[in-house]
Amino acid sequence: MPTVNVLPEGKAIQAAEGTSLLQALLDNGFALAHKCGGNLSCGSCHLFIQEGRKSVGRIAPGENALLDSIPGVGSKSRLACQVKLGSEDISVELLSFASGR
Ligand code: FES
Repeated sequence: MPTVNVLPEGKAIQAAEGTSLLQALLDNGFALAHKCGGNLSCGSCHLFIQEGRKSVGRIAPGENALLDSIPGVGSKSRLACQVKLGSEDISVELLSFASGR
């Protein structure tokens, strides 16, 4: 079961492989915005994956297109609703500013 290290809090959570990163964060008390309910239309679940990006797979074209439309995006950006946890531990950084539409 992979561990998700959540920055800047420094809290470590665990969730089963294949779980949505958004769901894992919500289940563990992180109030990550998700205005569209995980339907890839708002971008409010934007965060940075600081470590372990290979474990969660590549960005699909739809996610990439939405990321391109929102400010503050970088090379480590992902949309938590589109990320499925892999077998390896990851570190994610929650944003201190509102993102998406
Ligand atoms: S919750 Fe809307 S894009 Fe992820």
